[in-house]
Order: sequence, then C-alpha cells, then structure tokens
Amino acid sequence: MYPKIEINIDKLKHNTRTIVNLCKQNGIMTLFGVTKVVASDIKCMNVLIDSGITHIAESRIMNLKTISHCKRPKVLLRLPMANEVDDVVQYADISLNSELDTITLLNKAAKKQKKVHQIILMFDLGDLREGIWYEDDYLTIIDKILNLSHIRLIGIGTNLTCYGAIIPTQENLNMLVDIKNQIEKRFNVTLNIISGGNSSSLPLLFNHQLPKEINNLRIGEAIFLGRETAYEEEIKTCYQDVFTLKTQIIELKEKPSMPIGERGVDAFGQKPNYEDVGLMTRAILAIGKQDVYPGNIWPIDNNIKILGASSDHLILDATKGNYKIGDIISFRMNYGGLLQLMTSKYVKKIYVNKDMVNK
Ligand SMILES: Cc1ncc(COP(=O)(O)O)c(C=O)c1O
Repeated sequence: MYPKIEINIDKLKHNTRTIVNLCKQNGIMTLFGVTKVVASDIKCMNVLIDSGITHIAESRIMNLKTISHCKRPKVLLRLPMANEVDDVVQYADISLNSELDTITLLNKAAKKQKKVHQIILMFDLGDLREGIWYEDDYLTIIDKILNLSHIRLIGIGTNLTCYGAIIPTQENLNMLVDIKNQIEKRFNVTLNIISGGNSSSLPLLFNHQLPKEINNLRIGEAIFLGRETAYEEEIKTCYQDVFTLKTQIIELKEKPSMPIGERGVDAFGQKPNYEDVGLMTRAILAIGKQDVYPGNIWPIDNNIKILGASSDHLILDATKGNYKIGDIISFRMNYGGLLQLMTSKYVKKIYVNKDMVNK
C-alpha cells in the first residue's frame, strides 16, 4: 500500500544508542526521548527505551494515553491546558510548567487522584517561547510551589531555538545554572533535573562546553533524523535516513510548464508563479498537502524535482527520470515532514531492518 513511510528500526536503534552514549559521557544523567515527531509510535518508543532512553517525552496527552503501558516515566512537554490537568496527572509522571495557576490546578487534580505530580519549571532565557522570564521574580513563585501538598518540583529547564532560533551557549545556559543556584540556596532544596534544552544543545555537548550542572536533555530530531538543530549539521556518527517516504506515480505525461488560461488562485488560495521552461514530463504522485507539505520532502533521485502540490496530488518534473506509471518514488524529509507524515492516517507505517552501512 502507498504512500508509506519505511522506518528502519536498526538505524533508529543505532542513532538512539549513539546519542545516549554521547550524553552519558558528558554528564547527562537522564535523557528524555522526544517521541512527538512520530506521534509516539509504539515500535519507535520501544526502540528508544531498549536503547537506554530514561524517559519518554510527548507534547500531546492524546499520545501519552496510547502509551500508558510504557515502561519508563512519561513526560508532558507542552505546558498543560487548564482543562486537561486531570489527564496530565493520570497519564504523565512529569510535566513542564511555567504558570502558577496551572500548577495549582495540577495540585488539586493530584490530590483528588491521591498522587504526587512532578514538575519541571521552565525558564525563558530569550527564545520567547514558554518559561518564566529569567529576570522575573521567580523566587516568589517557587516559594508558592514548594508549599503545594501534591506537587514535587524536581527540576528546572529551558527550551531554546524552537521559536526565536536562539542558539544555546555557555552564556545563556549558565543563566539557568544561576537560577538553579539561587533556588537551591534560598530554599535549601536540591533540584535533581537541570534540563538544558533539545537537539540544539548537542553542539555544546559535542564540544564539551555544556555547563557541568546541566544533567538532562530532551532529544527528538537528533535521534530520529541524525541532526543537531542549532546549525542543522548532520551528526556524522548517526543515520540521516532512518525514514523513507515511498509514493506511487498515478499520471505521467508530457505537458507545458506554464498553466494555460486566465489565472486566479490555487486550491490553497495562493497565487503561484511558474517558470516557462517549455514541455516537460510531469509525474503526479498519490500524496498531497493533506499528508505533507512539499517543501518538507525531497526526492532521493536528484534527477527529479518537486513542482508543487494540491491536497491529494504531488507534481514532479520527471523529464530527466526514466519512470512509468505505477513506479515508486522515494523521498527524504525534514522534521516538519516527518511530523506530518507520521501523523497522517493516510500514510502507512512500515518497519524494516536492513540496509545498514558503517557509521
Ligand atoms: C519542550 C521541548 N523539548 C524538547 C523538544 C525536542 O526538540 P528536538 O526534536 O529539536 O530535539 C521539543 C520539541 O518539540 C520541545 O517542545
């Protein structure tokens, strides 16, 4: 059945072990494997667990529910919504938080369920996504959190690069270390987890520049796609081709490169521009923007080129290819593409175990 995404389990295992070992060697005591990009696919999750990941981290409660049998502690990455606190306490062992109001609701939910819910308090060091602003009066907030009966503050963390594209540095991560020291000194507590970010923190770790107090990372892209995300460099010892998208040609015809007739807007309300390069062999594949945005994938055969897509059709310039109807075209993808493809119910997920080359 097509379209399908092939997941090479051996390569995923290799990548996970490689990242786990690198982290262990550099003082990372707990490593959260971020499975949201594969919608917490159970087989992928089990590979991560068997390869040494200590916690499974997700951004959606719906996905945490599907892995409720998971053998490792589960972490909710996205700040909880007020209306989901009961589920958060039930399905997540740990959640990342930045709002006292929500933490108070979590406390109530935990009390009702006779549980103690663990939280990691997030700090915004400049990327402008979630977190208490690093200059704000966080000690007053911590004081209130420490007085909640069913909440345990197990650590602090930060998230960089995802929104503001801010790169983790010794300077900004030392701000987190500073916050840790302030909290521990003022309240005479120990924060067990100092979570220094995601795959964009790996270059610092590779260069042995991660502050020694950082003892946790939350890693997705480096494991699944073999890249760090500060500079988007390949991690040489990891595979970048764990995933392959395979799609089928449903039309192959010679046509002009410029649409003919009066032009309005396309299926997505856009006014596209086309380059007139004369006649070309155009292939239509049975996959579209409903499954993946064309900018997020690229053909492995570099003789062919994506021209565009509508919701169910992907159109290629196959002039230089040697294809026929029914042939399969394979693609690689970026993080956004993987996220979309693994979430689409129209894309079959297939697990394979071959094609290893030395890394
Ligand atoms: C809070 C948080 N931590 C970690 C990650 C993992 O990021 P990456 O895939 O770049 O390792 C994400 C990504 O979604 C996230 O939202």
